[in-house]
Order: sequence, then structure tokens, then C-alpha cells
Amino acid sequence: STQRNVTALVSDGVRFLGPVFGEVASGESGMGRMAEPEMIVDALLSAQRAQDFFGRHIVVTAGPTIEDLDPVRFISNRSSGKMGFAIAAMAKARGARVTLIAGPVEIATPLGVDRVHVRSAADMQVALDRVLGNDLKGADAVVMAAAVGDYRPRDVREKKWKKQGDSVAVELVKNPDLLASLGAKRTGSTPMLVGFAVETEKAQLLEYARKKGAEKRVDLMVANLASDAFGADTNRAWFVEQNRHTELPVMTKDALADAILDEIARGIAD
Ligand code: CTP
Repeated sequence: STQRNVTALVSDGVRFLGPVFGEVASGESGMGRMAEPEMIVDALLSAQRAQDFFGRHIVVTAGPTIEDLDPVRFISNRSSGKMGFAIAAMAKARGARVTLIAGPVEIATPLGVDRVHVRSAADMQVALDRVLGNDLKGADAVVMAAAVGDYRPRDVREKKWKKQGDSVAVELVKNPDLLASLGAKRTGSTPMLVGFAVETEKAQLLEYARKKGAEKRVDLMVANLASDAFGADTNRAWFVEQNRHTELPVMTKDALADAILDEIARGIAD
């Protein structure tokens, strides 16, 4: 009779989440386990939103990269990964297929998002190449929210570096600029390229963002201040294009993710 009732409700338009297969309260396993709370939240989020990214593939990079010095030490940065993960989750909720290429952060992968774990900038480049393909046509948009390390140590020591003297110098060499190489390689307007610019000085924020956007040939730069952005659940941002900019109010990273996706939806519709 439960199954008859369920069938009647489904034909009335009620959507059921689960039950799913797995261990149940009695200790047995079978079709009767409650759907995971994350799955329920995800389904509710998607149900509320227009599926305007249906059929689209969005690639998001997130978090810091790590450049090893030796087996126990590394150089990295304070990126929490929250912004990139919020964009990935929101793009999924709006119907996209999402690949999230993330440096080492302790954030759960949003349900239904394909996550590629990377460590260094070089790893991230390999992952991007693989996901996008040679012609970069593997995605409709690439959002580079990762704080990619600009430099890496020239030598990565195989054995632990022993302390010596009162000062040491570490020679760093430049990493490839992943976003700039996508901009240089892209022919036409696909994939849409979105970059992030973080600064500590408000006075030059927009100028630097515009310059970075032009040099890397990206469509949209999201500019923000380190003091507003790093580690927080909220952020204040400016959308910077070559000939206009828009200041956004302080908002949660989820709301900012949505606003960024609105820009992307407009950009890839053309
Ligand atoms: N980026 C990248 N590859 C790098 C460095 C940065 O793809 N090697 C991307 C970031 O993901 C981000 C944007 O480029 O989207 C940031 O630009 P960048 O010029 O690196 O900013 P900063 O590092 O803040 O620049 P600077 O140190 O010159 O202020």
C-alpha cells in the first residue's frame, strides 16, 4: 500500500528524494535508507533555481596551490577555496555539469560536482589541459578562482633541508600563468574566461584588475580585497571589464557566486 500511495503522489507531481540503498536503522541493508542530507539540500537548491546552465560544462579552479621546498616544507597562500567551491555548487544547482579543480582544502565536494585534486600550479595546468582539451572546447566557461602560486622553488630537495646559518635564500622561478595561457590559446569566444584579482590596496584595485584582465585576455575579472575575501563567508567584489566596472555590495560568497554565474550566463548566451 505504501508503494501504491507513492505512485499516486508521484503522478500528482510530488517528487520523492530517496529512499536510497544502504544500511538502515535495524542494521540491515536494503532499499530504505534516508537520502543523505547533502543530497536533500542539493535537490532543494536546484528545485528553486532556473536550470539556465543545463547542457553547459563549467570548469572552476579553487583554493591555493602548494609549491614544495622539501618533503616537509612548502610555500603556499591563504586562499580558503570557499569562493570557488561556492561557484561550483551554484553552477551545479543551476543545471551545469561542473568540474572543480581544487588545490588542497578541507571542504566537502559539492554533490554531483566532479572534483580533481591538485597540489602545485603545474598539477593544475595538467588537469586544466586534460579537462579542456587542446582546442579548449571542453568547457563553456573557465572560472579561475584558484590562488595559483606565481613562483615555485627552483630546486625541490629530495631530503629534508637542514638548518644552517642565520639566513638562507630560496631561489624562486616563475610558474606559468595558467589563465594567461588559456587567453593566448583561445580562438573565438569559447570558453568564456573569468579571472580573479585580489589586492591589499583599494586605490589601485580596479586599475590592476583591468590591466590583468587585458594582459591575460579574459572576459571578466572579479576584483576583491584580501581583507574582505580571505577565509570569510562574505565578500565585496567589483566586476571589471575593459570599459566598465560594477561595484557589488557585501554579500555571502553563495550570493556572489550566483551574481558571477549571471554574468557568465549572459556571456555564453551570445
Ligand atoms: N593565475 C593563473 N596562473 C598563475 C597566477 C594566477 O592562472 N600562475 C590566475 C588566478 O587564478 C587569478 C588571476 O590569474 O584568476 C590572478 O592574476 P594574478 O596576476 O596572478 O594576480 P596576482 O597574483 O594577485 O598578481 P600580482 O601578484 O602581480 O598582484
